[in-house]
Amino acid sequence: MNVESHCLTYLLSLAIAMGLMSCDDQEGMTDEYFEVKNGYALSAGTSTIFNQSSHAYDLEAPWCTGSYLKRFNNGDQLYDDGPINNEGLGPVYCGYSCGSCHNNAGRTTPAAWTSSEGSGSNGMSAQLVYIASRNTGKFFQGYGRVLHDQSIYGVKAEGKLHTTKHYENFTFPDGEPYQLVYFTYEITEWYADSIKPEDLKISVRQPLRHVGQGQIMSLIPSELEALAAQSNYPEYGISGRCNYITERGRTSVGVGGNKANHLDLTVELGFSSDMGYTSTRFPEEVCAGQTQISQAAIMGYNYTKNEVSTADMEDVDLYMQSLGVPARRDVDNPTVQRGEQMFYKAKCHLCHTVTLHTKNEGTTLLNGTRLPWTGGQVIHPYSDFLLHDMGREICGVGLNDDFTAGLATGVEWRTTPLWGIGLQKLVNGHTYFLHDGRARNLVEAIMWHGGEGEASKNLFKNMPKSDRDALVRFLQSL
Ligand code: HEC
Ligand code: HEC
Repeated sequence: MNVESHCLTYLLSLAIAMGLMSCDDQEGMTDEYFEVKNGYALSAGTSTIFNQSSHAYDLEAPWCTGSYLKRFNNGDQLYDDGPINNEGLGPVYCGYSCGSCHNNAGRTTPAAWTSSEGSGSNGMSAQLVYIASRNTGKFFQGYGRVLHDQSIYGVKAEGKLHTTKHYENFTFPDGEPYQLVYFTYEITEWYADSIKPEDLKISVRQPLRHVGQGQIMSLIPSELEALAAQSNYPEYGISGRCNYITERGRTSVGVGGNKANHLDLTVELGFSSDMGYTSTRFPEEVCAGQTQISQAAIMGYNYTKNEVSTADMEDVDLYMQSLGVPARRDVDNPTVQRGEQMFYKAKCHLCHTVTLHTKNEGTTLLNGTRLPWTGGQVIHPYSDFLLHDMGREICGVGLNDDFTAGLATGVEWRTTPLWGIGLQKLVNGHTYFLHDGRARNLVEAIMWHGGEGEASKNLFKNMPKSDRDALVRFLQSL
């Protein structure tokens, strides 16, 4: 797609936004929300917001008013602080609240960069450490799917992660140097039987930005399937595929998570697996079966059922799906416009799909509440939400993590949506990118693209520095 037709798409989405507004008499919706100011572009139709402060990821969409806004605020608070007094947290857990890892609905700085030993010494990790048996591929009984490296008083954390960084130096063809860093891991201080390193698979993830969750939940599976069917660009070695997932008895195209391995927003899983809360969907404590659980009872920890209610979790779901998507900024800037052309020239758009649509009915929350307003929109997520083989060659490791999720293999990752990426520094105070946060800036993130991304990466690599810089400047406008 050329730049002109790209602009046309924005105009089209504006027209649709206006149309939707006129046949909808919701209180609180005024024209000013949909007037695209000079220098901006709509990213998510009527859910677009024009805030560009450190709260840009964490504000409600213009249509979220009245009783919805009340629930949004309750969800926001539960998300930041956990249920009242955090009773129910643990006994073992990864983070004390959703917001401890997803600061301002974005990405808290990964521990790999805040402490010399990963989560080992600084207390909170803000990462998820998936562990499984190398021999059987299964999770270890008594540990669960992630390492719970935090615990309440009187209980031992399951173990501590240690991260080693490896550095390699490279140069662009024009002589500009760059460096890539990757991590290897070790777990020590197991609460019980140590798992032998040779039987241990570890995959560490940094959180994702929540930008556009409601729109992602409203994607049209057949539109993604059509992309997977067409996205065969043999000349660039690109062929994305869908991850088919079965959750709650429903099988569909996975869209959430770094391996596209979730159909829903994982609110219940977050409370259970990451924080140790029981709920109707996950009635068992995550540490059920651990020898120390009776010890925790002695310490006065109350094991209760439904430590977080479905109503409260639905408010968290509502909060995340009603978040506004930041508008693009500086779209009239000539360097940004040059960078946008370079984005197409480097074929980034063949995976980071610029324009998708949402289904007319919008989205339904986990307890059945409907949010029709995310529906029927033209959106610009900069992702095809498909799995791509990203290779294992670069630095001898590539992006491979040896970890499977649904159909996704170790080398396959979901194209990360890039909307809002330019505000990450302001919102979260850092520019760590990729699934484990190894890239320290946008250039390093691009230079880690191997496998299906190799040809595109090389197109970027061989550009003159001014064009590479312009492309990065364009990413900062998203
Ligand atoms: C210990 C840190 C941690 C905590 C606590 C945590 N998360 Fe996450 N979250 C992550 C990481 C890391 C990922 C990426 C996971 C992956 O790649 O599989 C993630 C992914 C997600 C996603 C998928 C995002 C996407 O774009 O597809 C959602 C939604 C989410 N978390 C919601 C929550 C909610 C709700 C809570 C609280 C109930 C929560 N998280 C608590 C670290 C955390
Ligand atoms: C073959 C498909 C493909 C192509 C082509 C591609 N990407 Fe990606 N991109 C991905 C996938 C998959 C990821 C996630 C990798 C991971 O996290 O390990 C990603 C991640 C990224 C990230 C990190 C996002 C974040 O928030 O962590 C950036 C930035 C990015 N790509 C930019 C680009 C640019 C710029 C180009 C063109 C030069 C490009 N990509 C080409 C598939 C692709």
